Amino acid sequence: MTTQQQARTQLQAILDTHRHEAGALLPILHALQDTLGHIPDWSVADIAQALNLSRAEVHGVITFYHHFRTSPPAAHNLQICQAEACQARGSRELTAHAEQALGCGLHGRSGSHDLDLQPVYCLGLCATGPNIMLDDKLVSRVDAARLDRLLNSVKES
Ligand code: FES
Repeated sequence: MTTQQQARTQLQAILDTHRHEAGALLPILHALQDTLGHIPDWSVADIAQALNLSRAEVHGVITFYHHFRTSPPAAHNLQICQAEACQARGSRELTAHAEQALGCGLHGRSGSHDLDLQPVYCLGLCATGPNIMLDDKLVSRVDAARLDRLLNSVKES
């Protein structure tokens, strides 16, 4: 079975699980992205048909939420907390530094680091901000110098 055939089989299982729920579109999109890493273009027609929606309606929801990706993720993911407590501790300045170092804005992709830069709204450690999540590692009290060291380690990996 090819990779796309496997992905279609996984989509079908997700549709079978959720299609009869009220408000099924969002759970389906979340489950598909959790499974495949993104929402492939080819899946829009299948989802629309299963839910009796137009492709434009499905596409509109996918593009409305920044959370959903329509292409595979980069090798690395950096989330910087943008919520109030981290903002009070310098996350805006840290974000600006990250954008400059990576050459992309929030919701963008850094080609130099093969990394997606994302905002996140609270990581649950508000007293020790600014906080970031780099891949699956939560790091607190991050300043520009510490972020640079972390980004260098990503670039060398
Ligand atoms: S506000 Fe950043 S971790 Fe809660």
